[in-house]
Amino acid sequence: MPDRKIAVVTGANRGIGLEVARQLAHLGLQVVLTARNLQKGGDAMRELEKQKLPVEFRKLDVTSNDDAQALAQYLREQHGRVDVLVNNAGILPESSRDSGANASDALKVSPVTLMEIFNTNTLGAVRLIQALVPLMPEGARIVNVSSAMGALNDMGGGYLGYRISKAALNVVTRVNASELSARGILVNSVHPGWVRTAMGGPGASRSIEKGAETIVWLATSPDADETGHFWHDRKRIPW
Ligand SMILES: NC(=O)c1ccc[n+]([C@@H]2O[C@H](COP(=O)([O-])OP(=O)(O)OC[C@H]3O[C@@H](n4cnc5c(N)ncnc54)[C@H](OP(=O)(O)O)[C@@H]3O)[C@@H](O)[C@H]2O)c1
Repeated sequence: MPDRKIAVVTGANRGIGLEVARQLAHLGLQVVLTARNLQKGGDAMRELEKQKLPVEFRKLDVTSNDDAQALAQYLREQHGRVDVLVNNAGILPESSRDSGANASDALKVSPVTLMEIFNTNTLGAVRLIQALVPLMPEGARIVNVSSAMGALNDMGGGYLGYRISKAALNVVTRVNASELSARGILVNSVHPGWVRTAMGGPGASRSIEKGAETIVWLATSPDADETGHFWHDRKRIPW
């Protein structure tokens, strides 16, 4: 196994996650591309392999404790460490589910939908951090892909579950940044902007490449040496 840094990306079969995996591999990291669907994850890995990029695929549903533990065991046995964790997997089901004139109306969204979003967008990151931090050396980095929709300083209406999940993900960032600073592990949140993915839609204002850029910068750059902050386009933004 070549002496490369090891990077794990969740929800990496498409969208921002796949592009982050591609950019990290392009920078020379060994990327463990993860996805909940075997077929889609395998296809994504083969797409990057065709570009001669160093990538491997492991199945990971971020709502599964068993999957998180199995990934940790694989990484321990195959690589012995993890240098970068990008918690990217996320869902925004409120716009397409629940009855009512406005499916994202805070008075109508169901508790089941709220719990599902929280379990994926927030607890998914918690599961991976708990499973992989024991494998992280000093200097390792955790990047949580958050959203300005979780920023309390500019909170609007709609998308209650998504907003809760991303505000809480920012808490996950702050608490872990504080607890892990003594071990030299950096933990940050990123708002990627409004990006043209399945989630962002075709009318979004920025490319996937641009959406991935600050995530990759926080994951790798010697200039990005701060911890416990919320970032957008390489600048700190308010929580
Ligand atoms: N696009 C935007 O404008 C925007 C703006 C702000 C923040 N973000 C954040 O950026 C991140 C990536 O979003 P995107 O725009 O790239 O969306 P996307 O194209 O919908 O991709 C989401 C990814 O997450 C995966 N995923 C969902 N649930 C999962 C689970 N339980 N386990 C593992 N993987 C799971 C999906 O896998 P499947 O293919 O199996 O569904 C997919 O690979 C999300 O956290 C999102 O909240 C996006």
